[in-house]
Parts: sequence; C-alpha cells; structure tokens
Amino acid sequence: MMIMAVILFSFNTVVMADAYQSCVKCHGENGELRALGRSKVISKMSKAEILSALKGYLNGSYGGPMSALMKGKIADLSEAQMVEISEKIGK
Ligand code: HEC
Repeated sequence: MMIMAVILFSFNTVVMADAYQSCVKCHGENGELRALGRSKVISKMSKAEILSALKGYLNGSYGGPMSALMKGKIADLSEAQMVEISEKIGK
C-alpha cells in the first residue's frame, strides 16, 4: 500500500507538476545554472530561443555534444509544456 502511494505520487508529480521541475537539478530553479557545466544559462535566453532549442533537440536540428541527453529529458513533454517552460524561464 505504501509503495503504491509512492508510485502514484511520483506519477502525479511528473504529469501534473509544472513541467520545469524535472529540469531544476541541472538548470537551476530559475534556469540560472550552466547545466553540467555545459549548457548556456537558459534564463538569459529569450522565450522564443528556448522553445526553438527544445523543438530542435527533439528533431535533431539543435544542440551540442550533449544534445542526446537533452533529447531524452524532453522526449515526454507535450508542445504545451514546452511553451509553458519557455514562458516561465525565458526573458
Ligand atoms: C541531466 C541534466 C539536465 C537536465 C535534467 C536537463 N537538461 Fe537541459 N541541458 C543540459 C545540458 C548538458 C545541455 C547542453 C546540451 C548540448 O550539448 O546541446 C542542456 C541544454 C539545454 C537547453 C539549450 C541551452 C543551450 O546550451 O543551447 C535548453 C533550452 C534546456 N537544456 C532546457 C531544459 C529543460 C526545459 C529541461 C527539463 C525538461 C532540461 N533542460 C533538463 C542538461 C540537462
């Protein structure tokens, strides 16, 4: 029962919580970190730049040496969630 509750809770957080939460550990609470010492400081990118970077990671048209990692992180996001993230973090 306890285990069920934990599983349900984590499922809920992934689906319901603000989509940026899974990014915080690398990019910082407000996008202020250079993720793994490699990425740009995404809080300094415009909303449009962030959105196009995210879409670009998905279709392979954007990114540096660690783009495969980023693609994995955002593979489950909906378009609406990508917009939500860029609105929240971008300038
Ligand atoms: C495990 C750490 C990690 C997590 C978690 C992560 N990222 Fe990243 N992110 C990176 C790295 C490393 C790069 C640079 C990748 C490359 O080589 O292009 C990057 C790049 C980016 C960029 C482009 C910045 C640039 O340097 O051009 C954006 C935008 C971004 N991430 C958004 C997100 C969002 C939104 C999430 C959550 C859904 C997320 N990231 C989760 C590590 C992470």
